[in-house]
Formats: sequence, C-alpha cells, structure tokens
Amino acid sequence: MSDASPSTARIPDEYLPNIDKVLIPAEDIAAKLDELAAEIDRDYAGRELLLVGVLKGAIFVVSDLHRRLGVPAAVDFMAVSSYGSATTSSGVVRILKDLDTQIEGQDVLVVEDIVDSGLTLDYLLKNLRSRRPASVEVLSLLTKPSRREVDLPIRYVGFEVPDVFVVGYGLDFAEHYRGLSDIVTLKPEAYGG
Ligand code: PRP
Repeated sequence: MSDASPSTARIPDEYLPNIDKVLIPAEDIAAKLDELAAEIDRDYAGRELLLVGVLKGAIFVVSDLHRRLGVPAAVDFMAVSSYGSATTSSGVVRILKDLDTQIEGQDVLVVEDIVDSGLTLDYLLKNLRSRRPASVEVLSLLTKPSRREVDLPIRYVGFEVPDVFVVGYGLDFAEHYRGLSDIVTLKPEAYGG
C-alpha cells in the first residue's frame, strides 16, 4: 500500500530534512495549468496575448502555461525588487528589468507564482495600466488570501494556500528549492520560523 501523502521521490536528498510535506504535487500543478490554459483560450479566442512573467518565481508557470496555450502569445519578463525585508511591507517596488517592448493596445496577462500581501502586484498593475494596454489581467498559480493587504483582481487563480512557507516550482527560500517539481512546505526550523 502506498502512503497517503504525495511522494517525496523527486526531492533531492539534501533538501529532504527541511521539507515538511508535499503540498501540491507536480501532477496537480500540470492539471491545473491545463484547466487555466483552456479557460484563457476561450477568453482570448481571436486575440493575441502578451504574457508578462514576473521574475524569478514565475519562470516555470510562464513556460508551462505558454506551451499549453492555443491562442498566439508573446512573452516578456519584468524583474522587480522586493519591498524590503521578507516581513516588511512598505509597498515600495523598484523595477530592475523592464519590458522589452511597448504594450500600448495589447492584451496583457501578468503571470505570477504567488500573490501574498499583493503589494508587488498592486504596484505592477498600476504601472502597466499607465502604459495604455488594451487590457491587463492576472494569473497567479498560488494565492494566500489571508495575507492580503490590498484588494486585487486576480482573474486566473491556481490554488489558494494557507499562510505557510511554500517553496518549489519557482518559489525559493534564499534561492534554494526553486527547481523542485512539486510545491512543498518547509519545516519552521528550515527558514528560522
Ligand atoms: C514573490 C512573488 C511575488 C511577490 C508576492 O517574489 O514572486 O512577486 O513575492 O509577494 P507580495 O504579494 O507580498 O508582494 P519575490 O520577491 O520572492 O522574488 P522572486 O520571485 O525573485 O523569488
């Protein structure tokens, strides 16, 4: 008989002592992206999209979503500084890498790995809207509603997660764990919690 909890077989041995549990296995992420891509194809039928990935966490969501889309889509990336230490929320965001092209008149879909306080996205949306795109919507693989400080319209949501420390599939702790196929939770002692 197999264990009820998802397998940790894909997780490097070095990380295993720090992992609490597999919260969202790779198969569930893939199935959710299938659903979201189908929804986007319906919503944007006959149009072209510009996917805007927010570095670095969104890299896998962008690439895995992009490959599933039936509508034509271009891709670009932005990198923004966080707004201070991990627990502070001043709301001040700095653009470290801007888009390569103008977005005026385009249908933009911002792709995030997670929306936590919402401060990063709030800033980004205001910034992008000022560039007069035809539309701006958001897809976030994860959302932590309990942590939200600003109300944001997230059109496409993958999974709601509780207020726990999640890593993997793009999400990191001090640049570790990003490359995991699954989304996992860390033991508090692994992040000083
Ligand atoms: C994460 C995530 C979002 C932001 C969400 O990025 O990718 O961009 O935090 O947090 P918020 O809703 O509280 O603003 P992070 O700053 O960890 O950078 P990274 O993606 O490069 O790891």
